[in-house]
Amino acid sequence: MEKRVSQMNIFLCVATLMVAFSIDSVAADSKASFEENFNIMWAEDHFSTSEDGQIWYLSLDKKTGCGFQTKDRYRFGWFSMKIKLVGGDSAGVVTAYYMCSDTGAGPERDEIDFEFLGNRSGQPYLIQTNVYKNGTGGREMRHMLWFDPTEDFHTYSFEWNDEQLVFYVDRVAIRVFKNTKEWNNFFPNQKPMYLFSSIWNADDWATRGGLEKTDWKNAPFVSSYKDFNVDGCKWEDPYPACVSTTSQHWWDQPDAWHLSDSQKMDFAWVERNLVIYDYCKDYERYPTLPPECSLSPWD
Ligand SMILES: *[C@@H]1O[C@H](CO)[C@@H](O)[C@H](O)[C@H]1NC(C)=O
Ligand SMILES: *[C@@H]1O[C@H](CO)[C@@H](O)[C@H](O)[C@H]1NC(C)=O
Repeated sequence: MEKRVSQMNIFLCVATLMVAFSIDSVAADSKASFEENFNIMWAEDHFSTSEDGQIWYLSLDKKTGCGFQTKDRYRFGWFSMKIKLVGGDSAGVVTAYYMCSDTGAGPERDEIDFEFLGNRSGQPYLIQTNVYKNGTGGREMRHMLWFDPTEDFHTYSFEWNDEQLVFYVDRVAIRVFKNTKEWNNFFPNQKPMYLFSSIWNADDWATRGGLEKTDWKNAPFVSSYKDFNVDGCKWEDPYPACVSTTSQHWWDQPDAWHLSDSQKMDFAWVERNLVIYDYCKDYERYPTLPPECSLSPWD
């Protein structure tokens, strides 16, 4: 009898786990309305949508920028959005698309970000990526893009698991940030994060180090969004469903811990042609490079 009970318990336990797996992995419906997934962070009057609600616009003028964030926090998974950037002369304007554990610039926040740095007409946009752990950043890379991001929508994605964090542009991996797995290291893996996007004036630094000022004659500056997509673990308090160590999620499987061979070919092309700044090569700034710089993105 006792044996039967324990078998039953095991069965129940497995069944519960299976239910838990299917519940805590969410695939946000890209056709869901803005209100289902997001809140406006500030300047509601600088936010608008297309008539059918599928495209969202953030606008920046001399008075203010605007931003939105997900209602939920996530830990690990795939997070993507199609974005069309401000066209024309957008020097000084920054559009950020990022994930962060805090709703503000908290001193202990984890953050991973794409920042699109505007430029004078006809000159290329740069994309800057960065990683913060417990309030410390300084992990910048800058890339050129192989298309004009103001002409059409392109997909920008984070793939995040306990082994690596990959930044994708149209499914091309442009940056791989590895977990050294050392104690107290520089890899954001403990805190669940919200996803955000915002547009603001950064003419004190963004374009040619702040030399190019925002030309307000061109305001409002508008960035457009659609097709938000999440295939990740939605954080639920108080039970931390997303911290299971025996998970069946795709991002906890070895295939998600390395680039595939075809991804490596694209990544090699990006490395050869598009990288214009890499903190791991900036010996003036880091006479001793941060430890994660010794990890190969190819492993
Ligand atoms: C995070 O940073 C704060 C200081 O801002 C420090 O007191 C704390 O110990 C740090 N936590 C970890 C886990 O390193
Ligand atoms: C803007 O264009 C100039 C000229 O091509 C380039 O040197 C610069 O890196 C570009 N981007 C920014 C953000 O300054």
